[in-house]
Amino acid sequence: IDREGRRVFDLRAQEGRTDFGRDEATRTWGFDGDYLGPTLRAKRGERVLVNVVNGLDEPTSVHWHGMHLPARMDGGPHQEVRPGATWSPHWTVGQPAATLWYHPHPHGETAKHVLRGLAGMFILDDERSEGLALPREYGVDDIPVIVQDRQFDSRGRFREGSGTGDTILVNGIPGAYLDVRTERVRLRLLNASNSRMYTFGLSDDRPFTLIGSDGGLLPAPHSMTRIRLSPGERAEIVVGMEAGENVTLRSFPTNLHNILSDRFAGIRDMLDVLQLRAESNLARSPEVPAVLAPIEPLGPASAVTTRKFALSGRQINGERMDMGRIDEVVTRDTTEIWEITKEDGTLHNFHVHDVQFQVLSVGGVKPPVELSGWKDTILLPPNETVRIIARFADYADPDVPYMYHCHILSHEDAGMMGQFVVV
Ligand code: C2O
Ligand code: CU
Ligand code: CU
Repeated sequence: IDREGRRVFDLRAQEGRTDFGRDEATRTWGFDGDYLGPTLRAKRGERVLVNVVNGLDEPTSVHWHGMHLPARMDGGPHQEVRPGATWSPHWTVGQPAATLWYHPHPHGETAKHVLRGLAGMFILDDERSEGLALPREYGVDDIPVIVQDRQFDSRGRFREGSGTGDTILVNGIPGAYLDVRTERVRLRLLNASNSRMYTFGLSDDRPFTLIGSDGGLLPAPHSMTRIRLSPGERAEIVVGMEAGENVTLRSFPTNLHNILSDRFAGIRDMLDVLQLRAESNLARSPEVPAVLAPIEPLGPASAVTTRKFALSGRQINGERMDMGRIDEVVTRDTTEIWEITKEDGTLHNFHVHDVQFQVLSVGGVKPPVELSGWKDTILLPPNETVRIIARFADYADPDVPYMYHCHILSHEDAGMMGQFVVV
């Protein structure tokens, strides 16, 4: 906490070497370490300041994915940090408890920077979340699960392509396991992969309880056996365990689309992600509360406009990202509907900076429960339109845009991104 009462974090992007259990350690990048970065944590109402130091020898940036903040603090491609420079964004946390994350966003280079290891979790708390009987002891029964896939070459170095990898890392660790000491464990799942999709479930198909999505807790918990996350998406789940047992969090093969694009996104692969090993004595955990965080629905009638976004061939509405072109101008403190459609045979998702949105419909019908809460990233199903609604509150800046884009990072880097200003 500094003299002005702000919670201060320091993040230094730097090069390192990481031993992933191969023949040789490989060159990686990390924040304050060799790979990935520390979990940052702040509470609603708190003012935060982050000193981002670029210790690399090329420009980077750090974007606060899911955070509602002024555009010049957002860390997108317009807030590049030169080698050796320090960038110190600050803002007031004004949104509900959630599992957010941070990662670089340099123009055209995001995939490489994230792949090499620059990413971390940013957890937000609020009064309500602190009062709920949910597992919340960090590292004990409240676990960050940053899921990434990597491809290693024969010497153990990262292969830097745009395809999927066959080695799963959880928090940077291959073959990860967790010693579970409580009857219930909360997993904060983050798909921090560049292009791989996951359909998470447990190895014995036991149900888990979904409690949160990208932007916070759901109104009510839902029991389910599978949760699909495309790159950038998060889900919070609670898993019940019996003393002495082992169960594995896994990604299961599913069919979504045409064979080629499914293969590119790794949808048909079966992969072990995290082994949960229960100790022979488990501490009691309370039942998941029946009510979590009520959400006021944004009514379509309150929207001042409907914008359409068509994704196809690394373009949005027929254009590639241009740093000098503002694509959309939104009025502050208004609510808008965005209609997003995918028009090619490739898998895409859609992420919007600045806001958390609500999903009105997917393919014309009411969204499934996993899309019933706050979202900032959504998978686009083939041949169907996704309708979302968001309120663009608080911050306006005619000169600095926010981004919207496909979060498959090679697509984003290739230009599947646009810019909006809030005025
Ligand atoms: Cu997580 Cu614009 O990105
Ligand atoms: Cu973002
Ligand atoms: Cu895409």
